[in-house]
Amino acid sequence: MSITYQQELTLTAAEYISVLSRTTMRDKRPLGNTARIQGMLDGANFIVTARESDAIVGLARCITDFSWIAYCAELAVVETHQGLGVGQKLIEAAKALLGPQIGLSLIAEPEAEGFYRRIGMQQYAAFFLDREDRS
Ligand SMILES: CC(C)(COP(=O)(O)OP(=O)(O)OC[C@H]1O[C@@H](n2cnc3c(N)ncnc32)[C@H](O)[C@@H]1OP(=O)(O)O)[C@@H](O)C(=O)NCCC(=O)NCCS
Repeated sequence: MSITYQQELTLTAAEYISVLSRTTMRDKRPLGNTARIQGMLDGANFIVTARESDAIVGLARCITDFSWIAYCAELAVVETHQGLGVGQKLIEAAKALLGPQIGLSLIAEPEAEGFYRRIGMQQYAAFFLDREDRS
């Protein structure tokens, strides 16, 4: 399995939906609302993908100031490729691409907490004001 990790400047809504729909996050993002997904991609200024040949098998969608902090809004690996190190390498690639001045932060889904601990991320308390409209 040869997988490449790279910053993605033009990820399409169809590509994002294709990846997320093959993970447990399929019901946690508005995959049926392409315009909102496009807005999520347009507003995210740092996206890293894992590609096997041309096919995207994982992604990290982040928002960063490229100076201090990056917030990762989604990390997702398609179900056929989970447990193979792709998620860890996506985080490592994002951190390497951002460089030593940038911290990487995210809110973990409960079922993924063990993963973030396993790859050595430090756990803090997160606070969140939820959106009212999830459509
Ligand atoms: C969570 C997710 C990103 C992990 O990616 P992955 O490619 O499957 O994980 P990796 O293969 O890189 O795992 C790296 C290590 O973490 C461990 N790990 C993976 N998922 C884990 C989990 N949910 N809980 C505890 N440990 C986990 C692996 O066993 C591996 O350990 P090892 O080094 O001892 O072999 C992926 O499973 C996924 O997309 N899940 C569905 C969507 C999701 O929950 N995303 C996170 C949103 S916050």
